[in-house]
Amino acid sequence: MKNIKNICCIGAGYVGGPTMSVIAQKCPEINVTVVDLNEKRIAAWNDDNLDNLPIYEPGLAEVVEEARGRNLFFSTEVDAAIDKAEMIFISVNTPTKTYGIGKGMAADLKYIELCARQIARVSTTDKIIVEKSTLPVRTAEALKSILVNTGNGVNFQILSNPEFLAEGTAVEDLQNADRVLIGGDIDTTEGTEAVQALVDIYAHWLPEERILITNVWSSELSKLTANAFLAQRVSSINAMSELCEKTGADVNEVARAIGMDSRIGPKFLKSSVGFGGSCFQKDILNLVYIAKSLSLDEVADYWEQVIIMNDHQKRRFAANIVKTLFNTVSGKKIALLGWAFKKDTNDTRESAAIYVADYLLNEQAEIVVYDPKVTEEQMYADLDYLGTRTEEENRKLLKVVSDPYQACEDAHAIAVLTEWDEFKTYDWEKIYERMLKPAFVFDGRNLLNLHELTKIGFKLSSIGKPIVEEARKEPVLAV
Ligand code: NAD
Ligand code: UGA
Repeated sequence: MKNIKNICCIGAGYVGGPTMSVIAQKCPEINVTVVDLNEKRIAAWNDDNLDNLPIYEPGLAEVVEEARGRNLFFSTEVDAAIDKAEMIFISVNTPTKTYGIGKGMAADLKYIELCARQIARVSTTDKIIVEKSTLPVRTAEALKSILVNTGNGVNFQILSNPEFLAEGTAVEDLQNADRVLIGGDIDTTEGTEAVQALVDIYAHWLPEERILITNVWSSELSKLTANAFLAQRVSSINAMSELCEKTGADVNEVARAIGMDSRIGPKFLKSSVGFGGSCFQKDILNLVYIAKSLSLDEVADYWEQVIIMNDHQKRRFAANIVKTLFNTVSGKKIALLGWAFKKDTNDTRESAAIYVADYLLNEQAEIVVYDPKVTEEQMYADLDYLGTRTEEENRKLLKVVSDPYQACEDAHAIAVLTEWDEFKTYDWEKIYERMLKPAFVFDGRNLLNLHELTKIGFKLSSIGKPIVEEARKEPVLAV
């Protein structure tokens, strides 16, 4: 049986950083080295001030503080860490391709391939290679081919171990995972030993019945399937939200009613301005691409609709702002509360806020943004990346402030785009007094209390809720 004393993880991002921190915390006898090419990121992981870690996740700083320097290390010396390790996790990014065949759909595997070539070149001892990144089904085959054909004759076992953590709850998700999935070559002795070595690591803190072993292809495909199903639930409830708005039904009541059916379940039924994050869209597009490549057009069309619905939800939210503000937002100040793609993270990748802001800027709105965790630099980078207008124009038309009350001052409208808890605790009477009238609020997260805000005088539009005038009526029954 393989005894793992040194782990290397390539990629110190949202997955590599938290995952390895928890492994190091739970397995104090194993040295864990997380490596990355990005020197700035590694320096931030090594910063004495834990507020400067590159990733914000509740509880992460405490885990890093416990393990860093003991058996958790962050480094840019990739070759040395690879050579020393018996087990190597690959946690590099696998973004949607922006060029060539499969552009806009397929996963770009160039970073994965670079890792494989580097591992093959550097390794002088047998290694277990763990795919932690989300990959198209059958990627392990390509990895194996590169490792075997370019390596130094050492033995490589490849495992698939997709990560299911969600940002904002990453530490809790890792420490108390619903399940850990390990795909390996379970028909061979070497493959089974490699699987067992990884099982032993997770068994340090998770009950063995939560560690699921499958063949490699099932494991790779299960990850894409899990994200597709989760995103599909959000698009499904968002589709109903539009119907609710037109019929006087309340999407929260509908979600509650269906969620009590144990076959459906209550989680992941929050209607919103649209899902964001680095993975849902990327992974579904990848799934659609795989299905199309196999000529499974109906399968591809079915899953593509989840993305089409999500794009529609973002667009219709922004269009509703323009329509409600008397069909023009030109020169009007609109305050955006929230820029992150969900609460409790500083990650903004594919955040709905970026697309809502871009839409409103096209309509010549003047935007002021407040987010408790996202930096101004990041917001401009997100907008510039779209390439809709010049960098100068983005900086002229969109301002970033660090005080929510300042953001809302003299605004024609407020749009809530992230469900940060603090938004609920604001002095909304004070905000109302300082806004232009009518004071419109567009709640893209169903976060604010519709009745309290309408009582203050706001004209509130919440996703999937009855129209403003109806909301003025007190409910007869408290729900
Ligand atoms: P990320 O962009 O935050 O981190 C990836 C890191 O890999 C970057 O810091 C980059 O510099 C580094 N890197 C790339 N190529 C490298 C190389 N050759 N050598 C050394 N370092 C290299 O990405 P992420 O969000 O951590 O996602 C990583 C993978 O995990 C993706 O496949 C993603 O789909 C998957 N995933 C992400 C999440 C999530 O919540 N973000 C959850 C589950 C799975
Ligand atoms: C998601 C999955 O939940 C993880 O299991 C997976 O590991 C990860 O993707 C990944 O592969 O990257 P994440 O994107 O971090 O995690 O966050 P989620 O909580 O899934 O939220 C995704 C988006 O959907 C957010 O914009 C969120 O606001 C939105 N959402 C979620 C809703 O609009 N309604 C809901 O009910 C739930």
